[in-house]
Amino acid sequence: MPATRTIGVAVAALTLLGVATMSTASATPDDDRHGNRAVPLVLGHRGASGYRPEHTLASYELAARMGADYIEPDLVSTKDGVLVARHEPEIGGTTDVAKRPEFAARKATKVLDGVSVTGWWTEDFTLAELRTLRAVERIPDVRQRNTIYNGRYQVPTFQEVIDLSKRLSRELGRDIGIYPETKHPTYFRKLGLDLNPKVVEALERNGLNRRGAKVFVQSFEVGNLVEFSRKLRVPLIQLTSASGAPYDFVASGDKRTYADLLTPAGLRDVARYAYGIGPAKDQVIPRDAAGNLAQPTALVANAHKAGLKVHPYTFRAENVFLPANLRSSAVPSEYGDLFGELSAFWAAGVDGVFTDNTDVAVASRAEAFPRR
Ligand code: G3P
Ligand code: CA
Repeated sequence: MPATRTIGVAVAALTLLGVATMSTASATPDDDRHGNRAVPLVLGHRGASGYRPEHTLASYELAARMGADYIEPDLVSTKDGVLVARHEPEIGGTTDVAKRPEFAARKATKVLDGVSVTGWWTEDFTLAELRTLRAVERIPDVRQRNTIYNGRYQVPTFQEVIDLSKRLSRELGRDIGIYPETKHPTYFRKLGLDLNPKVVEALERNGLNRRGAKVFVQSFEVGNLVEFSRKLRVPLIQLTSASGAPYDFVASGDKRTYADLLTPAGLRDVARYAYGIGPAKDQVIPRDAAGNLAQPTALVANAHKAGLKVHPYTFRAENVFLPANLRSSAVPSEYGDLFGELSAFWAAGVDGVFTDNTDVAVASRAEAFPRR
C-alpha cells in the first residue's frame, strides 16, 4: 500500500471517530450542525484559478464541475454599491483596464490598509463601466495557458455567482456552496460602501441566510465578522495571515495580531463568533530552513479543542507555491507534487482546503478518505 494510502486509511479511521462524536448534533452521520460533511471540504479558490483567470464565471463553473464543494468569490464594491468578485479593489492586474484609453484618467494612487497602491479601483467605476472590462490572468508567467482566456470574461457580480451556484446545483445534482469573502471591509466602510449590509441583503434575497444553507462567510478582519454573527445564520470563518494583524485592529489601535488570535485563548474568543478559521497553510504545517515541509504545528488540535474547523489556504500545483521537497524542478511554472502536499494536510486533520486545482484536491481526498 503506498504511503499516501496508509496515511489516508489512518485519517479515515480518525474521521470515523470524529463522526461518531459529532453525530448527536448532525442531520445525518456525515453532516455537522451546518450540514457540512465530516470529510474535508474542497473549496474552489477564486474558482478553478489554476486553469482559468480567477474570479470569472468560467473559473467558478469549472471548479464546480471538477467537484468543488464550494466556490469562493472575493467581494469588493463598485461606485454604485454593487458587490462584484475581485480579489482586491485595484483591478489593474486582473482586467484589461490599463489598455482602455477611455479609463486612463481613472488611474489613481490610494492607501489601501496602510499601503500605497497605484492603479484602477472598483469604487471609481459604476457597474455598467466595470462590465465593459474583461478579465485577464493575474500571473501570466506562471499560468501561461490561462492567458488564452484573456479578454473573454466579464467581472461577475455576486448575484451572478449565486445564480451560477444554483444552476449548477440543479444540473449536477448536488449543492454547490458559496464561500464569499469580504475584502478590505474597513476600507470600503470609510468610502461609504459598507460591504456587510450588502452581503446580508444578498443572502436574504436569495434565501441563503438560514441555518443549513451551503454558505460560509469569511474575512481577514474581525469586527465585520462579529457584526455578521449578529445578522447571519450561516457559519463564519476567521481568516488569518502568517504575519501582521487584522486591519480593523490596526486602524483602531488594538495591538492584537493574527498570532494572538491563534493562541488557545485567542481561539476560544474566535469561537464566540466564528465556526472556523482559515489560516495560511504554513500556519498548519510550516517549512523548515531549507524550505521543506516540516512537522505540523498544534494549530489544528488547538482549534478543534476550541470547537473550530480549519480551512487552510492556498493549495496550488505549480512549483513556486510548493515546499522545496515537493518541487519537480527549478522551473516555477512546472507542476510539482501537490498530491504530496495535500496528503500531509489531510493527515494533519484539516477540515477543508482552499485550492486553485480542484481536480487534484478531489482526487487526493478520494485516496485519503475512501468511501465507506
Ligand atoms: O479566503 C481564503 C483565501 O482566499 C485567503 O486568501 O488572499 O486568496 O483571498 P486570498
Ligand atoms: Ca479569498
